[in-house]
Amino acid sequence: MAQRIANFDDWKDLFYKWQKDIGFDASLVKDYKFDAIYDEGTGPDIEFGDFKGWRKFEKVLDIPTQDMRDSLLHLIFYQGDTEFGSSEQQRKLIDTAPSDYDRQCLLRVMREEQRHGWQMCHVLVSNFGDSGKLEARKLLERRAYNGTRLLGAFNKNVDNFIDFLTYTCFIDRDGKYQLTMLHPSSFSPLSRSMGPMLKEEAFHLFTGQSGLARIIKAGKISIEILQKYLNKWLSTGYDLFGKDHSSSAARFYRWGFKGRFDEATASAPPKDLDRLNEEARNLYYREDCEVINNLNASIPEDKPKLRAPDMKFNRQIGDYAGKMYSIEGYPMSEPVYREHLKNVLPGPEDFKVLEPIFKAGNWMAADAGNA
Ligand SMILES: [Fe+2]
Ligand SMILES: [Fe+2]
Repeated sequence: MAQRIANFDDWKDLFYKWQKDIGFDASLVKDYKFDAIYDEGTGPDIEFGDFKGWRKFEKVLDIPTQDMRDSLLHLIFYQGDTEFGSSEQQRKLIDTAPSDYDRQCLLRVMREEQRHGWQMCHVLVSNFGDSGKLEARKLLERRAYNGTRLLGAFNKNVDNFIDFLTYTCFIDRDGKYQLTMLHPSSFSPLSRSMGPMLKEEAFHLFTGQSGLARIIKAGKISIEILQKYLNKWLSTGYDLFGKDHSSSAARFYRWGFKGRFDEATASAPPKDLDRLNEEARNLYYREDCEVINNLNASIPEDKPKLRAPDMKFNRQIGDYAGKMYSIEGYPMSEPVYREHLKNVLPGPEDFKVLEPIFKAGNWMAADAGNA
């Protein structure tokens, strides 16, 4: 695919080739028109950071330094990489959907993630000259299933529909956080991209959360197995917020490229620019706990309840990266930890239990009830 692109039409050709290459049957979404959609963004002026009060940067050349432009490019192609990665992860699930409704939900999620990738590439190709075109092309060359997506979460296996629902509930929730933080961006085309993407993201979260509630309501899959999927994807979601102490997050903030999750309502500037990732991760964790509490409300009293794994568990990024902590947050020796991982993450034994349940069908209730 090492083809140079001169304009966005060239990029579109590569996009359709990418769909084919990952085995996504485009005829399944033939009535859907992929398009870049921009709205008015959060307003004309920069809302936070060193350039607060300036007009937002309309063009890359309005941005004062090359350093800043390079960082912004980086931020945009990292976001784009997640969008294409998720469709690659989900590509084999279409024929495994438990009902036609769920199949339609999956297809909608996939086509919208593809549109998000399309949108980021439109921003890259229209604004960043040759380097933007190169990065937009590279976004269609990496592959989740070859382990070459930029962030670990987007190289993980999404093996079945429980994976998909837990993923949309918690990894797409990270997506909501990232998009919300980019919404007030000082780079206007990025800010103006986020509103429509966030609207689409809300459906992904709904699909995940209501899907998990429907699994609980049907009562065919044990809470112990569901908990393992939560352990897998929440720990992955914690990683997605990056290092606990991050100088690049501080720079993104100072330059107005990426705000806080609650930037729109925050009453004061951040106390510690070095800890922005950590703060966002804490908010995400709190929201995860609320979602899990809602799910627990529909679990019968005599059954175990779901919970969020401790933030130290199974981390690959940040202060706890590579360290051995249990899902309750207790330190463990290496052999005990290895055994623990086998017990608390989904594995071959669980797949054996799940296979006949998937085959028998009706393992998701038709609606989520009150959950
Ligand atoms: Fe997305
Ligand atoms: Fe999403």
